[in-house]
Amino acid sequence: QPAPAPAPQPAAENSLERVKKAGKIVAGLDDAYPPMGFRNEKGELVGFDIDMAKEISKRIGVEIVWQPTVWDTVVASLKAKKFDVIISGMNITEKRLAEVNFAGPYGKAGQALVVKASNNTIKTIRDVKPGKLGTQSGSTGYEYAKNNGFKDDQMRLYKEFPLAFNDLAIGRIDAIIIDAFAVKTYLDKKPGTFKQVGDIMGDEKIGIAVRKEDKELLDALNKAIADMKKDGTLTKISEKWLGF
Ligand code: ARG
Repeated sequence: QPAPAPAPQPAAENSLERVKKAGKIVAGLDDAYPPMGFRNEKGELVGFDIDMAKEISKRIGVEIVWQPTVWDTVVASLKAKKFDVIISGMNITEKRLAEVNFAGPYGKAGQALVVKASNNTIKTIRDVKPGKLGTQSGSTGYEYAKNNGFKDDQMRLYKEFPLAFNDLAIGRIDAIIIDAFAVKTYLDKKPGTFKQVGDIMGDEKIGIAVRKEDKELLDALNKAIADMKKDGTLTKISEKWLGF
């Protein structure tokens, strides 16, 4: 009697076919992060990441659907399949690479220190008094502050950066650590209120986060980004939103 043929195994899911079948890539983002992804006066989602993702999804042949999410838990949400990717000015770090992959990079994101225009005492992060430094929870700015000796209870952590800038304006904090590329937006919005001090810290790059197992999707995103670098599309988007 021959042994019964083994039951056919379902083929491992192909992540690119999955999004193509769905007709969309669902992207998690912090929607209060100018100039990458934020709401304009009409409440529409705009920014560097929005334009870039529109172009990428067009090249892959799907729609892009945005899913605003809390930054602090963004990696856990990606792993829990709340969305397919994270597109939100996200730094590629060793710590995150242990959990997810990144397509790209598509930009640089060193950290910058921002103080009130009238402040003449703070030149580096070391000059900021405990309790007077603000940043976004779960951000690379938070990691940088920690690495520079700030304990959790010596920082003010915000859900989103605009709230930190409100507190900087009223003097509740003395300095903010944030991605250097984002600073200009805040300086321009309230001319003469804030200034950037010191050197840009670190040399991290930003990318699109993808679950480890979604290899085919990662490849497709990498190809679209590489093509957009070659044909000048990415430079155009960067000039429009970052000014360089
Ligand atoms: N680039 C920094 C990071 O990766 C700050 C990100 C803030 N980005 C955002 N979309 N909230 O953590």
